[in-house]
Amino acid sequence: MRTQVGIIGSGPSGLLLSQLLHLHGIESAILERQSREHVEGRIRAGVLEQGTVELLRQAGVHERMEREGIVHEGFSLVFNGRLSRINMHGLTGSSVMVYGQTEVTKDLIAARLSAGGIIEYEAPAVAVEGFLDGQPRIIYEKNGQRHELICDFVAGCDGYHGVARRSVDPGKLQLFEKIYPFGWLGILSDVPPVDEELIYANHERGFALCSMRSHTRSRYYVQCELDDSVDNWSDDAFWDELRRRLPPHVAERVVTGPRLEMSIAPLRSFVAEPMRFGNLFLAGDAAHIVPPTGAKGLNLAASDIFYLSRALVAYYGEKRTDLLDRYSETCLRRVWKAIRFSWWFTSLMHRFGDDPLNHRLQMAELDYLAGSTAARTAMAENYVGLPFETFE
Ligand code: FAD
Ligand code: DHB
Repeated sequence: MRTQVGIIGSGPSGLLLSQLLHLHGIESAILERQSREHVEGRIRAGVLEQGTVELLRQAGVHERMEREGIVHEGFSLVFNGRLSRINMHGLTGSSVMVYGQTEVTKDLIAARLSAGGIIEYEAPAVAVEGFLDGQPRIIYEKNGQRHELICDFVAGCDGYHGVARRSVDPGKLQLFEKIYPFGWLGILSDVPPVDEELIYANHERGFALCSMRSHTRSRYYVQCELDDSVDNWSDDAFWDELRRRLPPHVAERVVTGPRLEMSIAPLRSFVAEPMRFGNLFLAGDAAHIVPPTGAKGLNLAASDIFYLSRALVAYYGEKRTDLLDRYSETCLRRVWKAIRFSWWFTSLMHRFGDDPLNHRLQMAELDYLAGSTAARTAMAENYVGLPFETFE
């Protein structure tokens, strides 16, 4: 098989890239290790920045998002049993959209397939070759047979465990990593959310987050031990633990119900530099991971794709290579700011062992945020998403 841009991975980054390239008349093919059902069933992020929403509009996959997505103009922080609202819209003029990654993925897959796009499911890439010699090809398997996808460029959109980053000489990669000493236990349930907005709680038993996917579907998380297992948690045990970590007037409003899904996610900060090796470009989780606090993972994947799609469009349309040359540096400037924000928000809200000094510092910072418009503005500016850089 031959195409212009070979894409590994049909998560949000691979799908969005393929769709944006298609709208500019550039051909691509996606190789995906999992089945379509698996990809469409995964429960992940839930909050879209305005820049991501705008990019999905440009990709023509906005109809259902605009109908079903919920615009949020603020969120609350809970500490010492009190609630402090961050008025994102009042402080920055921007807001975010609650619309699940699962739905974004379904919309993108439908758009690609209805336009005749190629997505090969259950076709794991096993290696990327020739990307430093101008003859890139992806070696993949399908039905037990080995195949080659020959292309001009390879986009490694295959997540943290993918093959694209592993195809690069380790000596050419600089890796930065921090693993946090806890995880998030999450439940998805068809119950109305406890509040109209998200609530992030710092509690002595550990962090809790009240989020949602719609007016009838809630997503809640509690900080858990790294070695914990969902087998240790009945639905009732989860709801009891969540309520314990919320102020009483909020806890009493929590509507409980059976789980649709329950899972544990580890928390990690990770960056691989650079993000370009000859004709191979890394994007999204293949190049960087943030801890989920602040919901930046999916949004960072979208901003990488904004830069990569523009660079490829400039290459095919005008034979320009300067945007491809600047891809890694431009992405990484924004990536590191999101890595910093997610690390800061994670550090502010979680219980780190029994360190009383750390706890007092967290309370002082939360109190400062509650009392300072400048501090709240800085937080809101990062939460709604920093602007994309544009080049002519
Ligand atoms: P992915 O969505 O990981 O997509 C990569 C794709 O590549 C996958 O479909 C995978 O099957 C495929 N693939 C991998 N290897 C190969 C191969 N060798 N050949 C072919 N295909 C391959 N972010 C938030 O902001 N909030 C959250 O609550 C949140 N929860 C998360 C929970 C979990 C369990 C995980 C893993 C991530 C979560 N994230 C969250 C992060 C967010 O979902 C990611 O940042 C986002 O999915 C990145 O998109 P991506 O397309 O780059 O990678
Ligand atoms: C969700 C996850 C987050 O990490 C976050 O900060 C907000 C919402 C969610 O899954 O709904």
